[in-house]
Amino acid sequence: MSELVKVISCFDSPSAIELVTELVKQQPKNAQQEGYFVYHLDALKAHLAELQRQDVIKLWFAVKANPLSKIIQTLDSAGFNFDVASSGELSQVLQQDIAPERILNTGPAKSKAQITAFIKQGVNIFVAESLNQLIWLNEAALENNVIPQVLLRVQLQWPDGEKNPLGGNSLTPFGLSVAQWQTIKATDFAQLELCGLHIFQWGNMLSNEKMFSLWSQMVPPLKRLADAIGMPLKILDLGGGLGIDYLQEGETLSWPQILADLAIIKQQAGVEELWLELGRFAVAECGYYVVPVVDKKVNYGEEQLVLAAGINHLLRPAITEQPFPVNLLRASAQEKQLFNIHGPLCTSMDTLGKLALPKDVTVHDQLIFGFCGAYGFTESMPFFLCHHIAAEYVFSQGKLIEVRASQPADWYLR
Ligand SMILES: Cc1ncc(COP(=O)(O)O)c(C=O)c1O
Repeated sequence: MSELVKVISCFDSPSAIELVTELVKQQPKNAQQEGYFVYHLDALKAHLAELQRQDVIKLWFAVKANPLSKIIQTLDSAGFNFDVASSGELSQVLQQDIAPERILNTGPAKSKAQITAFIKQGVNIFVAESLNQLIWLNEAALENNVIPQVLLRVQLQWPDGEKNPLGGNSLTPFGLSVAQWQTIKATDFAQLELCGLHIFQWGNMLSNEKMFSLWSQMVPPLKRLADAIGMPLKILDLGGGLGIDYLQEGETLSWPQILADLAIIKQQAGVEELWLELGRFAVAECGYYVVPVVDKKVNYGEEQLVLAAGINHLLRPAITEQPFPVNLLRASAQEKQLFNIHGPLCTSMDTLGKLALPKDVTVHDQLIFGFCGAYGFTESMPFFLCHHIAAEYVFSQGKLIEVRASQPADWYLR
C-alpha cells in the first residue's frame, strides 16, 4: 500500500499509510455509494501532544474547524481550551462535559440575548468585537452578578504599498479599528475585567518569516491602544491562521520556529499570557474524505471525473480555489494525468479541483482527499439537490468507528 500513497506527501506519513490500508480492508457501509469523512484520532492525539509540549502559548481550539464530538473530546484530553462562535458550538462543547470556564466566545454576531445566554451557562471569557457587544456584556454581567474577562478585538489597517504586512486592507466585521476602541475608557465598564486584546486578520499563513513580521508589527499599535484605554495588557490573543500546505508546494510552518518567534512577541508585548485559537493547524491533517467515482468522460479534450458528492460534502475548494490533495484508494502503477474533478450538483461551482490521478482511475473507484479534518463536513452545502449527508467515522487503535451514518435527504426534508 505504501506504493499507492508515496507520491503525495500528505498521504505519506505512517499514520496515513495505516489508515489507507485499513480503509481498503474495512470498507465502511455504503462506501460504494456515498462519500464519508474519517479522522485518524491516534495521529491527532500525537500531533496535539507535540503542540502542547511548550510553555509559551495557551492553546484553544477554534471549534468551527471541526465540531465533531470525538474531535472535541480528543482536544479536551490534550488539554486544549475551546473557542466557540455560536450557541450551537457552545452546546456541543458543553455536551462533551467541558467546564464553561474553559470556553471563550468570539464572533461578530453576538446579540445581547446570546451574551446573556452564554453568561447564564457559565462562560466567563469573551472577545468583544464592537462597542455594542461591550455595552451588552457589561449590562449582562451586572444583571447576572459576574465579572467576565474581556478581550477587545482589534482590526488594523496599514497604508497601502509594499510594507503593508496584511497584503491588503479589506474591511471585515471582525473587531474594530483602533480609532473606535480609543473612544472608550476601561473604567466605563466596571462590571468587566478588560484584560487583553485579540487580533487575527490573516489566513493560511505558510511562512514563518511573514508570520513573525506580521505579529511583530502589531505589537506597538496594540500596546499604545491598551495604554490609551487605560487597560492592562495581560493577554494577547493572536487567533489562528497557521497554514496548511493544501497545494502541496512544500511550504510548511515550523512549529519550533513559531514557538521561538512567539516567545519574542510575548516579551515585546509584555503580556502574561499569549493565546492562539488553532483551527486547521490542529486538526486538518488528521482528516480524510473518501468518495466514489460515478462517471468518467472526455469532454473537449479534457478528462472529467464525476463523483458521488462534491461541494455538497466539501465546499472549501470552491470558495478558496485551494483543492484538497487527492489520491486513488487502491494501488495503481499507471502514470498520473490531470482530471477535472466534479461533484453531482447542477452548478459549475461544483468542482474539487483539477488534480493528478493515475490514468486508470475509473467508475466505482474511490478517491481519498487529505487535509479534510478542518473546514470539511460543517463547511459544506449539504442540502442542495437533496443528496445524502456524509457519514463521519473515526479511526482509533486499528478500528473504524461510525460516529454518524450517512443520512438520506428525508432525514431533514419536511
Ligand atoms: C476568531 C477565530 N479564531 C481562530 C480561527 C481559526 O483559524 P484557523 O483555522 O486558520 O486556525 C478562526 C477561523 O475563522 C476564527 O474566526
